[in-house]
Amino acid sequence: MGLKEEIAQLKRERDAVILAHNYQVGEIQDLADYVGDSLYLSRQAAGTSARVLVFSGVRFMAETAKILSPEKTVLLPDREAGCSLADSITADELRAWKAQFPHAVVVSYVNTSAEVKAESDYCCTSSNAVKIVERIPSDREILFLPDMFLGEYVRKKTGRKNLHLWVGDCFVHTRMRPETIARARAAHPGAELIAHPECGCASEALPYVDRVLSTDGMVAYARETRAPEVLVATEVGILHRMEGLNPSTHFLPLSSEAVCPFMKRNTLEKVRDSLRDLQYPIELPTAVMDRARVALERMVAS
Ligand code: 13P
Ligand code: SF4
Repeated sequence: MGLKEEIAQLKRERDAVILAHNYQVGEIQDLADYVGDSLYLSRQAAGTSARVLVFSGVRFMAETAKILSPEKTVLLPDREAGCSLADSITADELRAWKAQFPHAVVVSYVNTSAEVKAESDYCCTSSNAVKIVERIPSDREILFLPDMFLGEYVRKKTGRKNLHLWVGDCFVHTRMRPETIARARAAHPGAELIAHPECGCASEALPYVDRVLSTDGMVAYARETRAPEVLVATEVGILHRMEGLNPSTHFLPLSSEAVCPFMKRNTLEKVRDSLRDLQYPIELPTAVMDRARVALERMVAS
């Protein structure tokens, strides 16, 4: 039996579904039950009736699934699939920051640990960060964490002056700077340019970016665009879906070095092992999950 057939059989035996983030390698995306961005996958995790969820992504995504569906077995195929952005703030650091602004509302990007979510009022993703901040009364101070580029983008879009930023970033996206755009624009003068808000260029170079989009926003754009050439400023795994949806547009990475090593720890073999041996289950203290769920349910509902 081939690897793909083995995975299909194990999935049936385990009553399992596979959720894959848009940055996964093409062969994992192709056999997953759900492929999408953080918000879409969180919603699927909360709504599926399957007993086992294999999360082909990174730890904070699998933790989110577990918090939203605590009765299910949620598996992360590689224990080391972390996230440099989620690691840029600890729960102790957040508690110390909150102590300086005791009346502020805490809005945490979903790329955070469960302990940080438990200290937060709202979670958001790149799809709904602007919408969530807009709903918070304008006189309330906001602590926005941990991505400073997404935070700066939200600040520009909402015009809020009382939004304080944590200085964290994703090491894959931060390298895409306004200079990177200038070079790519010179090499591809007619191309459209779309960027993920985590990019080091998304806020500073806003006038030179055609659209700032979450990864599913990019997928929706790929379906509709008639542009002959599009530069894509995010992790290169997204190109697999975009190319499949629209073969008449040429999608190019803004930087071919934009590869997330955590996302790429997932392989078909590890997905198979995960289903076969039920490894590695996400386990979190109930009290942390109960507190984090409040902020996460607000995210899923927005
Ligand atoms: P999306 O929610 O847009 O998929 O982004 C998740 C992420 O980790 C980007 O680096
Ligand atoms: Fe984290 Fe960056 Fe990888 Fe996204 S691309 S999972 S933010 S390290």
